[in-house]
Amino acid sequence: MTRRMTAPDFRLAKGKRRLACLTAYDVLTAGILDEAGIDLILVGDSMGNVILGYETTLKVTLGDVVSHAAAVMRARPRALVIADMPYLTFHIRPEETLRNAGRLIQEAGVDGVKLEGGRERLDHVRALVQAEIPVMGHLGLTPQSVLKFGGFRVQGRSEDAAEGLIADARALEEAGCFSLVLEGLPGPLAERLTGAVGIPTIGIGAGAGCDGQILVISDLLGIPASVPKFVRRYADLRGVIGDAARRYIEDVQAGRFPGTEETYSE
Ligand code: KIV
Repeated sequence: MTRRMTAPDFRLAKGKRRLACLTAYDVLTAGILDEAGIDLILVGDSMGNVILGYETTLKVTLGDVVSHAAAVMRARPRALVIADMPYLTFHIRPEETLRNAGRLIQEAGVDGVKLEGGRERLDHVRALVQAEIPVMGHLGLTPQSVLKFGGFRVQGRSEDAAEGLIADARALEEAGCFSLVLEGLPGPLAERLTGAVGIPTIGIGAGAGCDGQILVISDLLGIPASVPKFVRRYADLRGVIGDAARRYIEDVQAGRFPGTEETYSE
């Protein structure tokens, strides 16, 4: 596709092709992923862990996401760009949720927002959809629920929990979500859930039965010292960056950098 991907295009891809999605938080990475042909860039609140060094996503603010989402949009991506709504920006009153999402649309210029949760968030989802904002849902091991879950644990293991998640997914679709992220679910449940809705499901740690996949970009690139078991590292940037930094340090210390060519002066 040469024109920009839209939320309706993304939705219509269900059953036709698998959707490849990644997170990005800056203009350079967004440009590279876009050139590679990614379908969707998520400016995730995972920035709290991978950019800002927090242990959870709970401290990420709307200002953080607006600023990083605006940087991603400066790459002028062809991909659909979705920004995460941080903790407490969609929990109080639907009017407040709408104002917050409005900042992501108007100030950052993204194509839609993602928010975590199921039936307990329906009023908020409806308020956004009624204001013409595309909404992506997010079910399962929702990281903003870490305190309630007592840690980062796979969800939906019992039949009751599984049925609750399927009811959540159907309700989010009915409320107008154009897609759903399914995180940290048993593969067979994610597959069942994918078959229960008419909108694309995008899995992370939820097996191969979803309509698409998403990973956190730094995990895919092999930058953190360790990554979750479900991640495939497609590069070892930790090694590449460390090696480049060590060679630079040695060159500076030995007086080999800068050379005669590597200067601003004539
Ligand atoms: O914040 C994020 O990056 C996410 C993905 C892991 C789906 O929500």
